[in-house]
Amino acid sequence: MKKAIFAVLLSALAAAPSVQAAAPVAKAVTPADDLKLYRSYFMKKFPGLPLDGYANGVYAIDRASRDGWEAIEEFPPYEPFVEEGKALWNKPFKNGKGYKDCFPGGPAQNKNFPYFNKVRKTVITQELAINECLQANGEEPLKYGKGKIASLLAYMAFESRGQKTNVEITPESLEAYNKGKQFYFARRGQLNFSCAQCHFQSVGQRIRSDILSPALGQTTHWPVYRATWGDMGTLHRRFEGCLEQVRAAPFKLQGEEYRNLEFFITHMSNGIPFNGPSFRK
Ligand code: HEC
Repeated sequence: MKKAIFAVLLSALAAAPSVQAAAPVAKAVTPADDLKLYRSYFMKKFPGLPLDGYANGVYAIDRASRDGWEAIEEFPPYEPFVEEGKALWNKPFKNGKGYKDCFPGGPAQNKNFPYFNKVRKTVITQELAINECLQANGEEPLKYGKGKIASLLAYMAFESRGQKTNVEITPESLEAYNKGKQFYFARRGQLNFSCAQCHFQSVGQRIRSDILSPALGQTTHWPVYRATWGDMGTLHRRFEGCLEQVRAAPFKLQGEEYRNLEFFITHMSNGIPFNGPSFRK
């Protein structure tokens, strides 16, 4: 029953004239053009909201939900996960080495990810780098999405607070960027919805008990403790959830599709400071 109501709500959103009006979003050619276009779209939509503010997602655009969130942030539910992550970071591998040997700059790594590896011709995310570090040292890789990897990311994000998003798109990485962009604007699932329809065109509107957050700033605050999950989760876990909402088959966590998608949407937030981990409903 709930699902049926949701579908009706979605079709109402899809029929809104703003969907057609969003055509210019798909026109831009270079990533720099995209960035300008996307930013000006949101800046017009939310006048007075400074760029940094987008790091707070829905709480930047809805006063009522912001108040509750600020109260939660006073005793953040992600704190124990940051502690667990710190212990994991400091625990030596069986060969005596540790994460610090794979990440020479220390745990504050957010500004370095995701990046495009020219030799391997693929996008490297922080999670992938963590697991490749473990495997290179004869350790078992971690399960993606939640659990230990989320705790480790929580600690790394905490240490990275204040760094700025800085994804560079080069001629070599343009294809991966464009694939991510295509993913974002492609309709999928039984409800035939694209990411952009919810997080661009319908931003600020209500779906069930949720208000749709802007695409801008969606990557700054991961991992997230979600009340709905009662747990910490990663960005790709959230992608999975959004695809389930439109009844689309999810992709593999840390597979190429989600990594390209992450590359595209993180670039959109260039210049916005990292403020993870965070809490979301
Ligand atoms: C049917 C509408 C809908 C579609 C389609 C959709 N989402 Fe969402 N998304 C939501 C809702 C609702 C939330 C929770 C409220 C919010 O933060 O926007 C959310 C949250 C998110 C968040 C977390 C925001 C934060 O501040 O933590 C991310 C990231 C996200 N979506 C990405 C995507 C991506 C990528 C796609 C396409 C694969 C997508 N969404 C498709 C409805 C949608």
